[in-house]
Amino acid sequence: MKIAVISDIHANKMALDCALNDINKFNPDKIFCLGDIILAGYDPNGVCEEIIKLQDKYRDDFIIIQGNTDKMVANCTPQLIEKTKEAFPCMGYSLEEDVKITKKEYIDFVKNLPLNKTITLNNVTIELVHGSPRRQDENIFPNLDPCDIEKMVENSPADLILCGHTHIPCGYSLNSGKTVINAGSLGRSMMPDCKPVYLQLTIDKYGKFYSEHIKLEYDNKMVANHILMRGFKYCEDLAKMYIPR
Ligand SMILES: [Fe+2]
Repeated sequence: MKIAVISDIHANKMALDCALNDINKFNPDKIFCLGDIILAGYDPNGVCEEIIKLQDKYRDDFIIIQGNTDKMVANCTPQLIEKTKEAFPCMGYSLEEDVKITKKEYIDFVKNLPLNKTITLNNVTIELVHGSPRRQDENIFPNLDPCDIEKMVENSPADLILCGHTHIPCGYSLNSGKTVINAGSLGRSMMPDCKPVYLQLTIDKYGKFYSEHIKLEYDNKMVANHILMRGFKYCEDLAKMYIPR
């Protein structure tokens, strides 16, 4: 069984198109999407439209959960916009604009997504979460103390926990027997090269699983230009995040 795991698209249609092209060649049985499909990109409507097409095509074989930025757009208030502007100006101004440009049907779509999902495939129980099983916005970064990761996943019934949120791919094989894999980010990679990353997961009939993070090539500058063209205050700070360091 082959599964493509995508996360943190952040309204970046070019990254999603690039990944779907590669995923078609992988020819997965299932696609999992771990949330943050919108906020701080350039095409929230185009991304939502494509995600809903995937849902129609794959039906029960497409599973999607809500990320913290989906929730921010869906439950946005003037207070949240001001608070975000103070903490992270380009995100706050992006939020203000994204709420205006995203179609209501897509805001309703992300609003109604589940926080997590658990599924058993070939005897492997998998939990899909955005941050961690205990919190939608908890960070599972590389090089954390495995004892801390154990605490984050101790109440999960799963053998394998799939997460995103940090935009940095990583993985842990824990003493408890659980495995945790962060799929990285398609649309706003925090890796030095800022290239889109997704996960290819294969589970054999004996319940053994293998995974590989796939890095994709695309035109970072073009994405940065799309962000700049949005023109909201501090959008140049957001655009810079797409240029390799
Ligand atoms: Fe994210």
